[in-house]
Amino acid sequence: MSNNIEGKVIVITGASSGLGLAAARLLCAQGARVVLGARRIDRLRQLADELNAGGMRAVAVETDVTVRADVERLADTAVQTFCRIDVMVNNAGIMPQSPLARLKVEEWDRTIDVNLKGVLYGVAAALPHMQRQMSGQIVNVSSTAGHKIMLNGAVYSATKHAVRALSEGLRQEVKDWNIRTTVISPGAVASELPDSSTEEDMKLRLDGFYKSVAIPADSFARALAFAIAQPEEMDVNEIVFRPIRQVP
Ligand SMILES: NC(=O)c1ccc[n+]([C@@H]2O[C@H](COP(=O)([O-])OP(=O)(O)OC[C@H]3O[C@@H](n4cnc5c(N)ncnc54)[C@H](OP(=O)(O)O)[C@@H]3O)[C@@H](O)[C@H]2O)c1
Repeated sequence: MSNNIEGKVIVITGASSGLGLAAARLLCAQGARVVLGARRIDRLRQLADELNAGGMRAVAVETDVTVRADVERLADTAVQTFCRIDVMVNNAGIMPQSPLARLKVEEWDRTIDVNLKGVLYGVAAALPHMQRQMSGQIVNVSSTAGHKIMLNGAVYSATKHAVRALSEGLRQEVKDWNIRTTVISPGAVASELPDSSTEEDMKLRLDGFYKSVAIPADSFARALAFAIAQPEEMDVNEIVFRPIRQVP
């Protein structure tokens, strides 16, 4: 019986670590072919080599999601290599934390560029292919911070709220092409995300929080696989999950 994942072509941004990497491993193990995007190409190539040990299943493409042409090349590579895109996972993200009063304006810009514009570029790159195919699924990664505002994380929370708004708008607009849309909002999941904070006190607090509650990254991979595996007529629009011990 088909798991509705086997054979699918799945593009994943931010696949060089954390949630994206765990997703690539799980989806490949379930028979998907994956096209991996991130800036650290050495890590992506290593992952692709690991996944390709049992046959041609993975391609690595150096991608900065803040550069529209890069994201287009990522999507185009999927089509050139595997002839289609079944799922686009807009996962790349950063989380520099600081009180607004510290005026880390460059970090605000960067967070918006990666977390929001990067997702928009992913939608723009995948949508024309999916419209032509008359099928597809776009998965955007938000956060529980896209539901609740985090202290010292206003800009991150704002981008993750925006990703949810964008995803709901997309859901309403792509019905005519049979395109499914999913937004996943994880709570604390062990990854390199806390490292994107440059303020030492913020990083220490986050490290402590993640050490006490975070769950492994394959939690995200299983949630993603669930949304993809459902029959095509079933559109899983939103998933929110947290570690059992996470309060906010
Ligand atoms: N971990 C959590 O607790 C948690 C909770 C809720 C939501 N999330 C979301 O989950 C997503 C993945 O984060 P993670 O937790 O897996 O963190 P991570 O381990 O730090 O991974 C982030 C990924 O994003 C990529 N990335 C960052 N900037 C990029 C850019 N400009 N262009 C392309 N790729 C870029 C990184 O690759 P390169 O550095 O190689 O480019 C890396 O692969 C993010 O959207 C994050 O907001 C995470």
